[in-house]
Amino acid sequence: MAMERIDKIIASQGLYSRSDVKYMVNRKRITVDGKVVTSASQKADVDRNEILLDGKPFVVKKQIYLMLHKPMGYVSATEDKKQQTVLELVPAALKGRDIFPAGRLDKDTTGLMILTDDGVLAHNILSPKKHVQKIYRVELDIPVTEEMQKGFAEGVALNDGVCKDAKLTILGEKTAEVTLREGRYHQIKRMFGCYGAKVVRLHRIAMGGLFLPEDLAEGECRELTAEELEKLQKRG
Ligand code: URA
Repeated sequence: MAMERIDKIIASQGLYSRSDVKYMVNRKRITVDGKVVTSASQKADVDRNEILLDGKPFVVKKQIYLMLHKPMGYVSATEDKKQQTVLELVPAALKGRDIFPAGRLDKDTTGLMILTDDGVLAHNILSPKKHVQKIYRVELDIPVTEEMQKGFAEGVALNDGVCKDAKLTILGEKTAEVTLREGRYHQIKRMFGCYGAKVVRLHRIAMGGLFLPEDLAEGECRELTAEELEKLQKRG
């Protein structure tokens, strides 16, 4: 990593603003390799230099990866004038980072969502070329049929083209699990719509090899572990 201004490094973590850093510098609260920082414009290299704030190591995370158990009623956007966004569920300490949802779930869809400031990861898990699977639990207003199952496996024709083959596992009379390897607008609702079925409940349980943990309650958000990040990027 290159040399960067100390105020930029500290502010990049979302907890403090650049003017906060100036205040800290004035109070001699920051050191780099044991020397007190005297100007917020002083530069440091986070890979080589030890930055201490109030005598404690200031840990710099270059990228942030969060999993969210999305509840109903939130839109998958960073801001919206009228509606609540999933960003409102991110812990306050991370709000200063440029986090965005990696992919969309409809306002009435619940389940696993990834929020990150890493555009490359977002591309890697969303691009149809990468074949990262997404698994959904679905409840319909009418019984699930073998005709739907066969049609999904062959590729449902929507008005914006034929879908990639999708796996439909029948779980109950009106419930199923669907595995997609792409993500088009309202895709599952439109696929079932081709069979005259309405989706009454949609819940995402997995992306790649990462499953929504049972102990992550609706509305809760936490950082991914290194192992979970690896699982997320696994191809389907
Ligand atoms: N398919 C849909 O129709 N909606 C979602 O939120 C996700 C997949």
